[in-house]
Parts: sequence; C-alpha cells; structure tokens
Amino acid sequence: MCGIIGYIGSQNKGVESVLNGLEHLEYRGYDSAGIAFISDDKLNIIKEKGRIADLRKSVEITSSNLAIGHTRWATHGEVNKVNAHPHHSGSVTIVHNGIIENYIELKEELIKKGYEFKSKTDTEVACALLDYLYQKTGDIKESISEFKKKAKGAYAIGLILDNDKDNLYAIKKNSPLIIGISKDEKFIASDVPAIIDYTNKYIILEDGDYAVLNKDSVTVFDNENNKVNRKPRTFEGDALSISKCGYDHFMQKEIYEEPEVIKKTALTDIPDISNYDRICIVACGSAMHTGLVGKSLIEKYGDIPVDVEIASEFRYKKLFLDNKTLVIAISQSGETADTLEAVKIAKKMGSDTLGIINVKESSIAREVDNRVYTLAGSEIAVATTKAYAAQLEVLSKIAYSLAKNSKDASKLKEIKDYLEDLQKLPIIMQEVLDNEEEYKKVAKEIYKHKDIFFIGRGIDYALAMEGSLKLKEISYIHSEAYAAGELKHGTISLIEEQTPVIGIVSDKLIADKTISNLKEVNSRGANVIYLTTNQIKGEGDFYSTKLVVPEVNPLLQPIINVIPLQLIAYHVAKYNKCDIDKPRNLAKSVTVE
Ligand code: G6P
Repeated sequence: MCGIIGYIGSQNKGVESVLNGLEHLEYRGYDSAGIAFISDDKLNIIKEKGRIADLRKSVEITSSNLAIGHTRWATHGEVNKVNAHPHHSGSVTIVHNGIIENYIELKEELIKKGYEFKSKTDTEVACALLDYLYQKTGDIKESISEFKKKAKGAYAIGLILDNDKDNLYAIKKNSPLIIGISKDEKFIASDVPAIIDYTNKYIILEDGDYAVLNKDSVTVFDNENNKVNRKPRTFEGDALSISKCGYDHFMQKEIYEEPEVIKKTALTDIPDISNYDRICIVACGSAMHTGLVGKSLIEKYGDIPVDVEIASEFRYKKLFLDNKTLVIAISQSGETADTLEAVKIAKKMGSDTLGIINVKESSIAREVDNRVYTLAGSEIAVATTKAYAAQLEVLSKIAYSLAKNSKDASKLKEIKDYLEDLQKLPIIMQEVLDNEEEYKKVAKEIYKHKDIFFIGRGIDYALAMEGSLKLKEISYIHSEAYAAGELKHGTISLIEEQTPVIGIVSDKLIADKTISNLKEVNSRGANVIYLTTNQIKGEGDFYSTKLVVPEVNPLLQPIINVIPLQLIAYHVAKYNKCDIDKPRNLAKSVTVE
C-alpha cells in the first residue's frame, strides 16, 4: 500500500507539487507522511504522524526542483515519525511502496558492514542496501541493478542522491509506478491522480524496470538493463471526479453518481463466455461480495457453476483449474496484490482469465487475458460504492448474456425485458436516492448501538454482507451479516432488547422464509428494519421500520437494494462523527498480501 510521488523540474515547484500529489494519493494509506527535497543544495526531510494536512503544517513551501514524498499505510513498524518515509542512509534517500520480504536477512548483513538503523521498517533496509551498493560501485545505475538482484518482494521506489540534484530515480517491481511527463517537469507516482493537476501524459513502468528522470527527459531500463521505450499514454479520466462538488463527503457524492455510472457501464461489451464449464471468481472485500451476487445470478440464470474465492485464500489452497474454467478477477483498483497473484496462478494452471476492473491499465487489467471495464470513474472514498454498483451491473450483464439463449421458458420470461430495464434503471435508482431522508432516519435510530445484524437469503444474503461491511468499515460499529436461516444456530443468542436487525427481502419466492426469521428475532426483542420491494407484502407487525424499494428485473434488483444499505451506513458514520472517506486503519488500494 502507501503512495509515492516524486518531482523533478525547473519551476521550483517540487515541494508544492509533491504535497498536492500526496493529497491525491491518501486513499492508499494515511497514517503518516513525509517529504524530502533539495533546496539550496541542501537535503531536507520532514515527516509527520497523521494526514498530509498535518505534514503541510510542518513544511514551509520552499523553492525546490527535486522532491519525493510518501503517504504511509504501516506494514513494518508502528505508526510514528521515525518509521514514516522518506528514509535516508549515507547519501541515498528513498520513498517506497511495497514490502521487501528478505529485509531481516539483508539488515543483518548490513549491520555487519557497519550500518545502523533507526526505524523498524523494511524500507530503511532497502535504502541502506542501495547506499552500500552505491558507495561500493560509485554508480547508481549499477547499484540499482544489483539491488534488484538482492531485494525480494515488491517495491515501487523513488530515489534521490545527496550529491545529484539533476536526477530522480525510480525502480519498480510488483508495485505500481508511473512516470508523468510534461515539458519542463517530470514526475513519478503510484497512480495518475497524483499528477493529474500537472499533466495527463504518463508512462507505466513494467516489473523489473528502473528509470532515470531529469527535467528534460526520461530514460527507462528493463530488467536486463537494456534501454527501452515504454509507450506514452494519455489519461482521459475526469479531473472533476477528484473533487467533492459540494457534497459533504466523497462517499455521498459517489453514491449519488451511481445512476450515471450504471448508464455508462451499460454500454460496455461483454465477452462470450458460454464455452466454459465452470467459473471461478476471485476478489477481495466488497469486490468479493459482488462476486457472491454474481454467483447467484450466473448460476440461476446462466446455468454455469460458479465458485467465489477470497483471493488471499485462493492463493494457498488446492485448486482445480483447467482450460474449461474461466477465472474472473473483480477489482476496483486493479492493484490488489492477492487478486493480482491469483490471476497469475490461474494463468499458470491453464485457465483463461477475465478482469472486471475499474482502473484502466492497472496491474490486474494488464495481467488478465480479457477485461471489462466498469466505468465508475475515480473513486476516492475508501469504502467503495459506485464501483461496487458497476461491478454488479457487469455481472448481471454476464448472467444475461448466458441466459438469453436458454431453453428454459420461465427463465426467459423473467429476464426478457432486461435490456430495456437496464436503460430505465438509472431513473429508478434516482428515485431510491431521493428517499435519503428515510435512510437517515433509520441511521438516527441505530447509530448508538454496539452491535447491528444484517440478514437475508440467497442473493439478499450476499447483499447483507456488503451492507454489514459498509456499516462497520466506516462507523466502527460491530456488525455481522447472517444467512437468515442460520442466525438461530448460535448468533441469535446475541440478540437483545432493541438490537437492530436489518432484514433484506427482495426475492418473492423465498420472502416468507426470511420474514419468519425476522419474526423470530423480533419476538426476542430485536428492532427489525425491513428492507423489501413494492411487490412483497410481508404482513405482520414484526418490524419497526419498513423501507420499500421498487421491484425491477431480477438481474438488476441488487443494484437497487444496495443503495439504502450504503446510505444507512453513510449516515450512521456521520452521526457518529467518523472520518467517513478515510476510515481508520484502512486503505483503498491494498498492494500488500
Ligand atoms: C480494500 C478496500 C475495499 C475493497 C477491497 C478490494 O480493502 O477498502 O473497499 O473492496 O480493498 O479492492 P479492489 O480494488 O481489488 O476492488
């Protein structure tokens, strides 16, 4: 995780550009931050625990043409100033995103050679190793090449030398790194938003690459130290999507963007996957939850068995993959380390891979054999909402593409108006959004509780998992999602007088079953919030609040149902005065295993 940025130019704007870039990278981690810059031939390093805003207070905007910066999500060593980046050793200063796996071994060797370490980080070891090699060879390019042979793991590194104010160096393996290009200024960054205020031209470094940047040029070398040309690209995204546009939080703004996102993503093409015998979906977090919804839809309407695997588990279990299995990787960022590794494993085992990815040209998007982009635009809030909705849409399109040739008349009848319904969906979503006050009222009722439960059956259970995750990740309230019929096998003992239970009931065929389960918890004192559609009756006085959403095509219903859940989570966190867009301990792009 972590975000890095570097600047070299002739406009004396290094410090401001790096601080500004770091603000756009905070979604990658935000527990501490730091900057190193050369000013009047002197190296300055300033670090702070906390946000970039805290770092800003300690940094005077000084003229500088060479600067590197870092925003951290701690992996090795606690969150404090000493462990924050940049790290300095001898005449080398670096910022680093990734993990040096063999740092303990390297550290021991370096201690024997006389190096002393102040921090607990793997990065300080990488810095000392680079300095040692530089002192030995006197040539930084040779040192970088040696470093790549010795350091194991993942690294995107920005490097400056005390005695070289004309060059900025970048090294990349298994962690994302781009180079931004404008006339008199060059940048390195973990991601495009960091540089978008200055340039939309960039190149993507490949694994094993290192680059030498000066104000006028960029030279890239590949893993074999050959000079290579990496294709310059143009970022076509919308810079506006990285501003709040009057909303209180990015999360709220992004929920309100969902109708537009659904409209855009509706136009994407879906590949024909009817030749596969099996599908295996790999993903993490909310993306894994969309996978669970996708499984229900694809199995029911597309008639292909689907397994959903948490990517970090998939990597370490016995796999039964072959060329008749399609592995679908779902990821907003396209950088989640475990999902990326899962794709590599699937390819090695002979399976085709398809990515459902939001960030274009991201590592997973480049690794998969085929990809469908969700057109959610930049998502800034750490808790995903609009990208989640777009992933649901792509999965529903996949299920539809498989189902439309089905011989099952009743199934065909259920989904026959899918394409038309998809067109109408954004308007219906807007109607649901217009009911925000109702969801806010529910939030007011439940925000002081210590435990909240979500229950549902089948596809509604998959949604319950997302509703519960959304709530706990941003409000820090303990919450659990349960398959409605399973609650009574233990967890029901946690239900006390007024414990909130949010029941999702949108599948007519099994509605009565879940309603019975809601009655069970209600008779044990639970405060039931009943989320259902306008086509389900649900008679009885088992709930305190009923939230009704319109019934739509079954392949699209989850996209409607998730909106109230997202808004309830948002308002619960708001009532609790939580840092909604940057919840504690989390990061948006998880590039560590
Ligand atoms: C992090 C984010 C989650 C996200 C998960 C997977 O934990 O906080 O919101 O669902 O990573 O991320 P991806 O980018 O692969 O969808």
